[in-house]
Amino acid sequence: MTGDPTLHHRPVTLFVNAGQTVTCAGPARARRGAEMQDAGVQVGVGVAVQGDRFVAVDRDDVLRRRFPDAEEIDCDRGVLAPGFVDSHTHTLFGRARYEEHELRATGVPYLEIAARGGGIHASVRDLRARSDEALRSLAVPRLQKLAAGGVTTVEIKSGYGLTVYDELRSLRVIAGLAASQPLNIVATCLGAHEVPLEYRDRSNGRLEWIECLIHDLYPAVAAEQLAAFADVFCEPGVFTTAEARRLLEAARTHGLQPKLHADELHDGGAAALAAELGAVSADHLAAISPAGIAALAASDTVATLLPSTMLFLGTGRQAPARALLEAGAAIAIATDLNPGTSPLQSFPLVLTLAVSQLRLSASEAWIAGTVNGAAAVGLAGVTGQLREGFRADLAVHAVDDFRALPYWFGERLCQVAWASGRACHLSPQTLASHGIAPS
Ligand code: NIG
Ligand code: FE
Repeated sequence: MTGDPTLHHRPVTLFVNAGQTVTCAGPARARRGAEMQDAGVQVGVGVAVQGDRFVAVDRDDVLRRRFPDAEEIDCDRGVLAPGFVDSHTHTLFGRARYEEHELRATGVPYLEIAARGGGIHASVRDLRARSDEALRSLAVPRLQKLAAGGVTTVEIKSGYGLTVYDELRSLRVIAGLAASQPLNIVATCLGAHEVPLEYRDRSNGRLEWIECLIHDLYPAVAAEQLAAFADVFCEPGVFTTAEARRLLEAARTHGLQPKLHADELHDGGAAALAAELGAVSADHLAAISPAGIAALAASDTVATLLPSTMLFLGTGRQAPARALLEAGAAIAIATDLNPGTSPLQSFPLVLTLAVSQLRLSASEAWIAGTVNGAAAVGLAGVTGQLREGFRADLAVHAVDDFRALPYWFGERLCQVAWASGRACHLSPQTLASHGIAPS
C-alpha cells in the first residue's frame, strides 16, 4: 500500500459502466440482524484497482478524471460486486461418493452411513491412497468452478487425512494451492472431523486420537503455519461438546482460532459452546436450540449457514435464519463443498437457496456471502467490500439488478472475477468479445 515505493508506477485499472454496483461498504466487521438489510447498492459507481488493492470507489466520471491513463474494463451494464467469500469448504478430497447419495434416497441417514464405515471414512481411505499431485489436480478445477461463480476467497479445511501425516500433507497441498493459483485461500485444520476407524476400534481409541490432535497435530500445524483456524465436527455421535471444548482450547494455545461444525443434525449445545469460546464462526446450525440462538446473538461468532447441505441431505429442514437475524446474530452463507453432503461448486446457487429456503432478502444474502463470509474467516478488514484500501477482490455478473443473481438460478452469469487484483475467471463471452478463443 502506501509503504510500497513501486506503487506509484503501477498501472491502474478501472471497472466502469456497471448497471448497479453492490458495494457492501460499511464497517469492517460482520453485519448483524437489521444491519444486513443494506447491501450498499449504487448506480454509476465504479472501482479503481492498483496492484492488489482498490485505490478508489467512486462515480465513473470522477474515476476517469482522477486516473486519465488507466485501462478501462467495461462492465457492460452488469452488476459489479465484491467477490464472494466461500467461508466453509472441504475442497480437498478425492473421489465423489455417488453411492451414498442413492443410499440416503432409500432412507439410510447420513450418520448411519458413517457408523457403517462409509461417509467421511470413505473419503479418508481414498485421500490417504492419493498422491499430493493427484489431490492438487482434483482441487484446481473445483476452485476454477467456484471462481466462475464469482468467488474470490475460499476457506479450505483438511479433515480427510485423519493421521498426523495425512492431515499435514493435506494442509501442505492447500498451502501449495494458495501459492500457485489465483484465488485467495484460507486454511483450516479439521483433524477433528471424525474419530478415524483404526482408533474407533480400540478401547481407549477416542481419547488417544484426541490426545494425538492436541499433542501432535496442532503443534505441528502451528509450527509450519499451515492453518489459521481449527474446526471440530461437534455433533452427537461424532465429537461431544466437552471434547470440542478441550480440542479448541488446546488449538488456541497454538494460535489456531476456533471454528465449529455446530448443531448440524441434532442439537448438542455446540452453538452455545462456539459463542462461549469466542469462535470466529459456528457453522450449519440446522438443529440449533433457542438457547443456542440467544448465545450466538449475544456473541461476535458468525452463524454460517449452509443451505445446500440440508437440501442435498434431503432432511426437509433448514437453519432458522430469520430467528437468528431477529435475535441480532450475524449470518454468513457458504457452499460447504464436500463429497458427502454438498457437492456444490456454485456460490450463486447458495444465494438462491438463502432467499428461497432460508428466507433472506437479496440484500441479506449478498451481505451474508461477502462481508459476513469475510468475517467468518477473520478477514472483515481485508475483503468482502468494494472499499478503498480493501483487497481488489471483485466480480461482474451479467444481470441488470442485484436481485437477479439469486433469482435466475442455475445460470452462469459471472463474466469476470478478479482476486487480489488479478483475473481468476473470464467467461467464454468475455473471452470472445476480446477475440480470445476459450481454452
Ligand atoms: O460439513 N459435517 C461434517 N462435514 C461435512 C461433510 C463431510 C463428508 O460427509 O464428507 C459437512 O457436511
Ligand atoms: Fe462442513
